[in-house]
Amino acid sequence: MKNVFSHHISGISFMTWLSLLRVTTRRLLSTSQSSVDPKELRKFQFLAHSWWDEQGEYSALHSMNDIRVPFIRDTVLNMGSTYQQGSPLSGIKILDVGCGGGLLSEPLGRLGASVTGIDPLEENIRVADQHKSFDPVLAKRIQYKCSSLEDIVEESVEMFDVIVASEVVEHVADLEMFIKCCCQVLKPAGSLFITTINKTQLSYILGIVVAEKIAGIVPEGAHDWEKFVPPEELERLLEANGFSVKTVNGMLYNPLTGSWSWIESTSINYALHAVKSGGQAPTSQTEPLSEMESEQCSATAGTSV
Ligand SMILES: C[S@@+](CC[C@H](N)C(=O)[O-])C[C@H]1O[C@@H](n2cnc3c(N)ncnc32)[C@H](O)[C@@H]1O
Repeated sequence: MKNVFSHHISGISFMTWLSLLRVTTRRLLSTSQSSVDPKELRKFQFLAHSWWDEQGEYSALHSMNDIRVPFIRDTVLNMGSTYQQGSPLSGIKILDVGCGGGLLSEPLGRLGASVTGIDPLEENIRVADQHKSFDPVLAKRIQYKCSSLEDIVEESVEMFDVIVASEVVEHVADLEMFIKCCCQVLKPAGSLFITTINKTQLSYILGIVVAEKIAGIVPEGAHDWEKFVPPEELERLLEANGFSVKTVNGMLYNPLTGSWSWIESTSINYALHAVKSGGQAPTSQTEPLSEMESEQCSATAGTSV
């Protein structure tokens, strides 16, 4: 059984405190409100070296790419983007909020998107930047920045076609402010993709007791059940803050196979797609998808709202 977080927190180094202090000070100087919860950030501070270890602490996030990347890609294409062989997301500007080590930014960049990955933790951005440098294709397509969402709002108003916040909202301090900021930096009719964990008895048993304390799939202390977000609450917040929720799909992790699948129930993990209201409705994609694309598209089947 792993207890990586609590072990490291007690043995916190001077440099670590300095880094957290810098994040907090920058926060206090820039805005009175913050989406960043320093207690949550500390959990990620000590695992920055593990982002790209496919068998390590973040293995479930690696395998989540098998379903979340096609979900994002196909939804974006179906919103009316023109398809380009090999670079289907070419011309799409994506903001990956809470990008961590870049596990999701990289495949989106390889699909042709221009990706800005932000994360409030410097260690994460350092790892993401270093890993990106292994693939020359990504050099011009991805840029990373150590920042919170609220700190880039002013310079990024209506700049992005797509925002992804995958496994992030359960860590933020002020979810409504976070959503308001998403709305501000998205272009009209832009898409927001969120994956997160529901707040149910089942998510407590499977997400915390089993995943953290028994199976060690996720480091112990990674999640605070109190911060989990029911889809109904997320939908209400989104609809009240300029979004129209289009899809909510349940997701299930199988620890035996280490793989994710789409399910109807949203009682544990779920993925949500919302569109910023007020823009011109995008036209549907006219080009038929290839056989391979259609197969991947079927992975996106789920519960439409
Ligand atoms: C579970 S990781 C997910 C990383 C990445 N999105 C992925 O799926 O591979 C959560 C990430 O959110 C970041 N984070 C925590 N609080 C945040 C906040 N308020 N705003 C943006 N990112 C935050 C953490 O530093 C961490 O990198």
